Amino acid sequence: MIKLGVNIDHVATLRQARREQEPDPVAAAILCEKAGAHSIVCHLREDRRHINDSDVRALRKKIKTRLNLEMSINKNIVDIACRIKPDQCTLVPERRQELTTEGGLDVIRYFKRVKEAGDRLQKRGITVSLFIDPDKKQIARTRDTGISMIELHTGRYAGCSSARTAQHQLKIIKDMTQHALDLGLTVNAGHGLNYSNTSAISRIKGIEELNIGHAIISRAVFVGIKQAVQDMLKIIGTKK
Ligand code: PXP
Repeated sequence: MIKLGVNIDHVATLRQARREQEPDPVAAAILCEKAGAHSIVCHLREDRRHINDSDVRALRKKIKTRLNLEMSINKNIVDIACRIKPDQCTLVPERRQELTTEGGLDVIRYFKRVKEAGDRLQKRGITVSLFIDPDKKQIARTRDTGISMIELHTGRYAGCSSARTAQHQLKIIKDMTQHALDLGLTVNAGHGLNYSNTSAISRIKGIEELNIGHAIISRAVFVGIKQAVQDMLKIIGTKK
């Protein structure tokens, strides 16, 4: 059974548009769980543009499934994660100017820093995942860090404008999933997934969890968060 992690960052984005108290990302997370989400994902960005430190602390206290904190390998952020102890930390690349996480973490280039961050978090009993491009060299280097979970970046697939190129990207994700599984890694996937392009990804054997944010929160504006989460669960064929 494939799982669904719901990223609630954009509930906080809306709150920050006015710097007010609502909408509350913690209340949204609780509704996502009630609707059947298997985990709650949020990204504590260095510029705190949406989720802030007290959101993460409150989520840690209130949610009943799993808290997956997306974060950079910046030492201050790793310090915070070590204190709050989410169930999982997903290490992502971060550039302040970007609108969203634009590519996978370059484990080859930043190997030492990634390994240090991973070691610190794992010593605190936190599961660590690396958000990487579906690329053989990145997968091989991930294994050398001692981190045994990856999230494959589906952004290139999601951004395809023709069925032919999407099929090509889908095949790469499929092959890289199998390659990672053969190396003993746990494989998740996400980024850019929506109500049209998720079905094909969810049928790839071996992917454990999909992490989806923007599409679900956007749909929630029109149909409510419970319905938006349940619609996505239906697409990935998971009933809870
Ligand atoms: N996975 C990771 C590692 C991400 O950084 C993001 C974006 O925060 C997502 C999944 C969700 O992407 P989207 O909002 O496009 O569904």
